[in-house]
Amino acid sequence: MGIRMSSNIFLRIILVVILALVIFFCTKFTTLRNLRPVRKNNKHIANLHLNLTPSEKLTFLSPYGGSWLHGKNNCSCNIGKQWTLLAAYDSKHILSIEKRRKLQYEQHKKRNESPLKNVIIAQPNSPLSYPSNGVEVMPLQSIVIPGLGVFASERRDYMVKLKATQGVFNTIAEVPEGVLNGLGGKELTVTSPSLEFLNIVLKYITYTSKIYHINTADIVSFQFEEHAAEFPILIRQPPMPRLFDPGQDRDINSLVTITTKTFLRYHKLRILIDSIRRFYPNMTIIIADDSEIPEKIEGPHIEQYLMPFAKGWFAGRNLAASQVTTKYLLWVDEDFLFTKDTKLEKLLEVLESTSLDVVGASVNGNKFQFKLWYEKGNEDDGECLFSKPGGFHALDGFPHCVVTSGVVNFFMARTAKILSVGFDPRLARIAHSEFFIDGLGSLLVGSCNDVHIVHQKKEKQTQESLKAVEKRYATFRHANKGQFKSQHSVAILNLGLVLLLFSVT
Ligand SMILES: *[C@@H]1O[C@H](CO)[C@@H](O)[C@H](O)[C@H]1NC(C)=O
Ligand SMILES: *[C@@H]1O[C@H](CO)[C@@H](O)[C@H](O)[C@H]1NC(C)=O
Repeated sequence: MGIRMSSNIFLRIILVVILALVIFFCTKFTTLRNLRPVRKNNKHIANLHLNLTPSEKLTFLSPYGGSWLHGKNNCSCNIGKQWTLLAAYDSKHILSIEKRRKLQYEQHKKRNESPLKNVIIAQPNSPLSYPSNGVEVMPLQSIVIPGLGVFASERRDYMVKLKATQGVFNTIAEVPEGVLNGLGGKELTVTSPSLEFLNIVLKYITYTSKIYHINTADIVSFQFEEHAAEFPILIRQPPMPRLFDPGQDRDINSLVTITTKTFLRYHKLRILIDSIRRFYPNMTIIIADDSEIPEKIEGPHIEQYLMPFAKGWFAGRNLAASQVTTKYLLWVDEDFLFTKDTKLEKLLEVLESTSLDVVGASVNGNKFQFKLWYEKGNEDDGECLFSKPGGFHALDGFPHCVVTSGVVNFFMARTAKILSVGFDPRLARIAHSEFFIDGLGSLLVGSCNDVHIVHQKKEKQTQESLKAVEKRYATFRHANKGQFKSQHSVAILNLGLVLLLFSVT
């Protein structure tokens, strides 16, 4: 009996020792380890210092190996050939132009400012739970704010405060008097001796937008004792989806309209139309025509729009695009020629299955893609824009295509997106890249090299009348580069503009 007792005690001792060891190791390797980094050690950290890497060694942070501005907003525009506002105007006008430009730019910035551009930092060890992203309300409408809560240790009383700037708080619950203070206002306090109750009340707080704005945000602050958090509520009127009916058989003719512009060169236009009709006999062709003595273009599915004489290149593109009723349009120059490799179906497939807005193809086997880079400048000198040939990277799912910023004069595009950017009619004679500059940030552009079109051969015209037409055309096309330069700068209004342009022809 004594032996059994003592072995029993012995067993218990062993158990206790094992337990103690387990607790010791658990504490040592989990609790302690987890707790240790939380201990405040500001004094130590404050003495630490890191030297920053010199900027010339940070070129790897720039996508094109340039200098990394690191939020300094002081681009140098030292890449490529320069076009500056200064060069485009008479020096005696430059001061007043700069003044006007500054005012316009300030207006632009004001229109585009958003509280969402402010950085919000979450403070450490916050006992607050709140939504950090994705809360959205339509203007003047209401939502229940999701995810509000407090996780704190025992207190005698709990009080939290919500503050908004563009909307008011309410509740959808029957809350006893005295708990909510400031209902219907921009500042609401919730007070309760019970944390559990406080959290239940917080579940039913609503936010109501009070200013009709189609796209902004309210930064709401949520505070408990010394802990404060901020989170955005997006106030946004979603635009109406614009859907197009592709028809029962999803015929390409119900999805795509061909647009072009002609000026004097009817002989070239007729060759283009004949080549289109060999492959797409039923596709609508829209022609904008600013010739002096218009010739009627006959044929089924052709719409010819006559414009005042020499109205210009972009005015014509604008007019043609504005008359398109299909989901997509195809832009083609009047002197191009469709071949069996001009497979519009391929371009259509890319647009139907990716988020691209514009897709270009190859002309005479050349790709003519260009990337646009935009760098922040300072208030006085403006920003820098420059272009480099090529694409950013391959288009997912389409190995023959790349994502880029601008393409050649042969592209298929979403009609609505083209119209939203528009072709600036101030650019009358030489303009193409300008459309993609205007579309920077609103058009996603790609280019595919497995779809081809060719230029019509530059034959020496034997007919005297055609020779005269070509000569006249050339005078318009090449006469006025000075006009191009100044219009270009007016259109963009960004001083310090650097742009590498290349012509397709
Ligand atoms: C901007 O950069 C230029 C040189 O590129 C320099 O001379 C100028 O001081 C800089 N300005 C500011 C505000 O950093
Ligand atoms: C073009 O339209 C005509 C008449 O509707 C039709 O008979 C013909 O098959 C169509 N051609 C093509 C290639 O779709």
